Amino acid sequence: MLDFTNFTKREFADLIRNRAEIDREELYAEARAVRESSYGTDVYIRGLIEITNYCKNDCLYCGIRKGNLDAMRYRLTPEQILSCCEHGYELGFRTFVLQGGEDYFFSDELLEKIVRDIKRCFPDCAVTLSLGEKEYDSYLRFFEAGADRYLLRHETANPLHYSLLHPKEMSHAHRLECIRNLKRIGYQTGTGFMVGSPYQTAENLAEDLLLLKELQPEMVGIGPFLPHHATPFAHEAGGTVELTLFMLALIRLLLPFSLLPSTTALGTLDPARGRQRGILAGANVVMPNLSPSDVRSKYMIYDNKNTATETADYLVQLKREMHEIGYQVVTSRGDCNRGRRMMND
Ligand code: 5AD
Repeated sequence: MLDFTNFTKREFADLIRNRAEIDREELYAEARAVRESSYGTDVYIRGLIEITNYCKNDCLYCGIRKGNLDAMRYRLTPEQILSCCEHGYELGFRTFVLQGGEDYFFSDELLEKIVRDIKRCFPDCAVTLSLGEKEYDSYLRFFEAGADRYLLRHETANPLHYSLLHPKEMSHAHRLECIRNLKRIGYQTGTGFMVGSPYQTAENLAEDLLLLKELQPEMVGIGPFLPHHATPFAHEAGGTVELTLFMLALIRLLLPFSLLPSTTALGTLDPARGRQRGILAGANVVMPNLSPSDVRSKYMIYDNKNTATETADYLVQLKREMHEIGYQVVTSRGDCNRGRRMMND
């Protein structure tokens, strides 16, 4: 078994650069064995509700950046958000992920109310927020209102690389501070990065792995960078399925108890097999879209994102795909298992 728990940055970078020499089937089998000892063959689902595509930021890669004047902007009302949850609950979702751009319209007060309402109506469900960088007190307020988890990808562990992907107003240090604050408050915290983003090197990916090892997040979201036509990176090459799967497997081996989604971006690059391939490389989560159908095409962070499939149909297909490879979609909050066994012993 490949043991790289104590690898240096240089060793990780060499491993990534020379990955053609590594038997991929063997690596994925190891990743699956680790995943199965932490989580069995269960696949957790999260209902993704894209609450707003207004964003004050201008990230160079993202289709809903404020500089994209062609984006048709929308916001869901609290009633619409609750009705997405209701629909999702009936379909078997026990986690709702509220994701959106950094939109001042959703004040702390309004978000607190939305979180409280969801937790009151669906007390057996987890609420995950994915709403960007906020101050400590705002994160604390949402946590006290009942939010369980927060997703904030670090995007890249290297500050110089970060500055090539973001406008100068955005700070790598602040982003990491946010992630540390989330952990301190007690959220199950998710971070992650894009694979194959412009200017990314093997060293950068090695730094991403070392940062994950240091942060020990409960969730890690990674997916290929995919260009969006109305951004400065419209003509950049996208990330590959191959490298994404390789990184997924390494993350599973490095963080045995992490909740790792087989992301929508992976499914976009390989619509027929992307989700299955992610799971077979060690992922254990899928995040189907629960947003109302009329807004989905507006939440276009990259080109060709699937917006057509109804959630119920998508789930039928997903269940079949997971069954085909020996896994099953479960109705469960799907919390992080880390440390649980020790506490029960
Ligand atoms: N390609 C792939 N992923 C992207 N994201 C944003 N834009 C793109 C893109 N063009 C990712 C970022 C962000 C998450 C919500 O989506 O990593 O954190």
